[in-house]
Amino acid sequence: MTVRGAKNLVPKAMVAALLGDSPSVLRNVPEIKDVAVVTSLLKIHGVTVTKDEATGDLTMDPSGTKTATSNEIDTHAGDSRIPILFCGPLLHSLGEALIPNLGGCKIGDRPIDFHLDVLRHFGAVIDKAGPLGTSIRAPHGLTGAKISLPYPSVGATEQVLLTAVRAKGTTEVENAAIEPEILDLISLLQKMGAIITVGRDRVIRIIGVDRLNGYNHKALPDRNESASWASAALVTNGDIYVEGAAQRDLTAFLHTYRQIGGEFEVTDGGIRFFHPGGELKPLILETDVHPGFMTDWQQPLVVALTQASGVSIIHETVYENRFGFTNALVEMGAKVQLHSECLGAIPCRFGQRNFQHSAVITGPTPLVGADIDIPDLRGGFSHLIAALAAEGTSRVTGIELINRGYEKFMDKLTDLGARVEMNEIA
Ligand code: EPU
Repeated sequence: MTVRGAKNLVPKAMVAALLGDSPSVLRNVPEIKDVAVVTSLLKIHGVTVTKDEATGDLTMDPSGTKTATSNEIDTHAGDSRIPILFCGPLLHSLGEALIPNLGGCKIGDRPIDFHLDVLRHFGAVIDKAGPLGTSIRAPHGLTGAKISLPYPSVGATEQVLLTAVRAKGTTEVENAAIEPEILDLISLLQKMGAIITVGRDRVIRIIGVDRLNGYNHKALPDRNESASWASAALVTNGDIYVEGAAQRDLTAFLHTYRQIGGEFEVTDGGIRFFHPGGELKPLILETDVHPGFMTDWQQPLVVALTQASGVSIIHETVYENRFGFTNALVEMGAKVQLHSECLGAIPCRFGQRNFQHSAVITGPTPLVGADIDIPDLRGGFSHLIAALAAEGTSRVTGIELINRGYEKFMDKLTDLGARVEMNEIA
């Protein structure tokens, strides 16, 4: 199967098109719900978005950028987490931004305090705009600032980048996220004419410029989708070639994959992931920010660990509530115990705070089919691969959540030989 551009880069690259004074072209764009949501948000802000039907490439022309009405904005409340990233670009173009309340996966509280603090550092003024949104203004323009993030948040770092590139003067952000998707965003901003350096120890410096041009950029491949299919291969005793998977962005994942007994072969065009036979081995693992083991890889891997011989321990340090999906695995026969203690050494913000963020998994346990309602994107994918490995038929509802981040996943499952059938529920 093929993976295309990363869900955690493409929508942000689309927002960056607002910063240019000429059209931008984004290539390798997957057909996922988050792209549709951002396309619609760009359109209500006056950006002309054209899709090349043959290639899927998007051309975005921001020359007609305008303020969207609150009615238009309201229709997007709860759709995704991307709207908050429109703030910097809209403040630069229009001096104001109206942002709907955010959606996204329910894997923790997911507050936006870091984002709002960042915007205040640049001189923005923030008001609540009724129950559905937030209104942000920049009465005196935006000025570069020295910012230290409380945590290397991906979204807050993107907020800094998308705001600083056209702010007056220099911005320095400490404790920034340096995920591959952030570095790809920096690459495309650099193509637009932005001045950005990534220093040592998570410090990024940006010198603001008056104007930026459009970009032409091929999005980096989706490493989280690649890792999801890799886990699917292990869970189902399978063998999957993921065209487009890039080794460079998966180092920590591949290391872990081999540790538990999975195998892979890297080619120039992708990676073949397979179960080489024999028992899977348990392991002790902590999720972390890049270059650590990414939180989005954790959920599908947990399903593989239910089939490993022995006890595995996972400490989730990025989101406080990312183990809720294991309830369904337990119903299917897995042995998973959740704990609020930190079962690991990475300093974590959730210890002693009643968040069940450590999991002990004992395997191997045969899985049996169940009725499952999908809770979130990665948890949902994990349920599906558990259902594929289970004896009997599972009935899964809420499947549309998976369209947020996995392109044509039903077709891909069918191509892999899964017996899946989609039914409309009245
Ligand atoms: N946080 C705050 N306040 C904020 C922002 C973040 O407390 O204002 C906390 C979060 O609650 C979380 C931690 O900081 O505990 C890290 O959050 P981060 O900002 O890094 O995450 P994000 O930008 O909201 C993106 C991805 C996630 C991915 C994380 C971590 C997108 C659209 N989402 O979220 O992807 O898990 O970075 O790498 O890029 C997914 O793909 O399934 C997914 C959830």
